[in-house]
Amino acid sequence: MLRIMVINGPNLNLLGRREPEIYGRESYADLVKLIYKHCEEMQVECKIMQSNHEGALVDAIQQAADFCDGIVINPAAYTHTSVAILDALKAVQLPAVEVHISDVDKREDFRQISYPGMYCFKTVKGEGLQGYCTAIDALLQHIWEQRPTI
Ligand code: DQA
Repeated sequence: MLRIMVINGPNLNLLGRREPEIYGRESYADLVKLIYKHCEEMQVECKIMQSNHEGALVDAIQQAADFCDGIVINPAAYTHTSVAILDALKAVQLPAVEVHISDVDKREDFRQISYPGMYCFKTVKGEGLQGYCTAIDALLQHIWEQRPTI
C-alpha cells in the first residue's frame, strides 16, 4: 500500500475560526476527517501533521523520507518565506504537491512567491478543503506513472 504524508503549516489548526471568509467555516478536525476518508477510498495509507513551527515542518519532511512515497504540503505562511522547507523537499526528493485553501494568486503581492512551489510538481489552490483531495489524487497519479508496476 502506498503511504503519503500530509503536512500543514502555521495557523491551519485554527481553521473554521480563522478568517472564515477566506478559509471557510470547517475546522481542522473536519479537514483531517476529510483527508483520512479520501485516503481510505483511494486505499492509501496517510499520516497527517500540523505545526506552527518551521523547524518541525522541516523535521516532518525529513522523516517522511523514511516511510513515505510522497508528500502533500500546505506550508501556509511559510510558503512565502521558507527556503528551509524548499531545501528539505529538495533534500528528500519525494514527489510533492503544494496545496492552498485560498486562491493565493488573487491575494496580496507578498503571497505571489512560493519557495516550496519551486520543488513541487503541482500546486492546487482556491478549491477550499477539497483541494487536499485534488492534491492527493495528483500525487497518487504521479507516483503510479513513475512506478507502473505497483
Ligand atoms: C494558505 C495561504 C497562505 O498565504 C496563508 O499564509 C495561509 C494559508 C492557504 O491555504 O490558502 O496560512 O496556505
